[in-house]
Amino acid sequence: MRRKAEHEASLFNGTEHEDLANLAPTRRTKRQKDLFANKQPQSQTKHDILAYYLKPWITIISRHFKKAAYVDGFAGPGACDSGEACSPVLAAQILSEHGGGIEIHLFAIEKRQEIFRRLIENLDPFRNRLRIEAICDSFRSALPRVIKAIATGVPSFFFIDPYGYKDVRFDDIESILRLGHSEVLVHFPYNGIIRGLGVPAVHDTIDHYYGQANVARTLGKATPEEKKDLVVTKFEEGFRRLGCYTRSFEINMPWADRPYFYMVYMTREPIGYIIMNDLWMKLEKEREELQSGGTISLFGIESLNATQETLMDFLTSLFAGRTVRRKAAIATALMHHRSTETEVEKALAALAVEGRVKVQSAQKRQHGLCTFR
Ligand SMILES: C[S@@+](CC[C@H](N)C(=O)[O-])C[C@H]1O[C@@H](n2cnc3c(N)ncnc32)[C@H](O)[C@@H]1O
Repeated sequence: MRRKAEHEASLFNGTEHEDLANLAPTRRTKRQKDLFANKQPQSQTKHDILAYYLKPWITIISRHFKKAAYVDGFAGPGACDSGEACSPVLAAQILSEHGGGIEIHLFAIEKRQEIFRRLIENLDPFRNRLRIEAICDSFRSALPRVIKAIATGVPSFFFIDPYGYKDVRFDDIESILRLGHSEVLVHFPYNGIIRGLGVPAVHDTIDHYYGQANVARTLGKATPEEKKDLVVTKFEEGFRRLGCYTRSFEINMPWADRPYFYMVYMTREPIGYIIMNDLWMKLEKEREELQSGGTISLFGIESLNATQETLMDFLTSLFAGRTVRRKAAIATALMHHRSTETEVEKALAALAVEGRVKVQSAQKRQHGLCTFR
């Protein structure tokens, strides 16, 4: 009973993940065993998002490409003691089932040897359908090798799910995004960052995570209300400066009175962004329905969808006088306004009727273009 209360308190404080890294080895082994005994609600939520995205991702990719790569940067054992599939095995199941026979390279990186052994066993059944490369190393040291092994132009999806923020840097993610057709989903440790802002000794580590000098000091000076948004938007800002589309998903837990963590998605691919956005909207709707039926939602509920007028005004003011890829215009609108692809398409169609945009649909090998007045 006391153990359960302690565990819940650590979840509430957001200490569960990050503090494991700082525990003495013997104790860490025991706690970590507990962590992978059954699937925790927070892991279920992460896995829902991963699974929801990977299915359409690989289905679409397999129609247009001969190869694809999936990278699990902090893989874990692949399955809980209860037998439930965890991220690398879940990905292997989806990719082998929906991959349409193309060559799929699955990389799984795990630093701890005893977990790595379980990972290899759990991935073994997929070796005849996927090219599996399990790597026992730290994410940062394995990453350059993995990036080199993914040929330019091969679509890749990276799932980055560390404990806390100290084992990943902005530069690592930037190097992934430099690959053509790459997409990243990262577990953003909101509570760990909030706590770290009050500890000057970890400010350098936080600055590396954001890729911005003095960001920890600046964020530390914000009010608690300002911090709530700024902590995650500053992180996204770094990637947007690189020309990426980004989206953060707030994940709540029933026992916590503030966001528990975020999943942050980033890519240079407008199509990937549009799929992720629409999936997120669907997932959120399902959760809203569950909530109205008395079940507590794990997701932050956002405001209502943007109106057609808002989308029309946004598109015309941002792109006035320019010709842009249709998918890029749609993804940009989705990044700034809660909406679906269909709703933005309707706004573009309404603008076309009014003569405020000329839309050329996609031809073979050519993207659809929009020319705004
Ligand atoms: C949060 S768990 C991953 C869970 C897994 N992604 C899932 O969803 O089922 C993090 C894992 O990363 C491993 N790990 C910790 N530090 C690491 C590092 N620097 N590089 C690679 N793996 C690391 C841990 O041993 C642990 O198994």
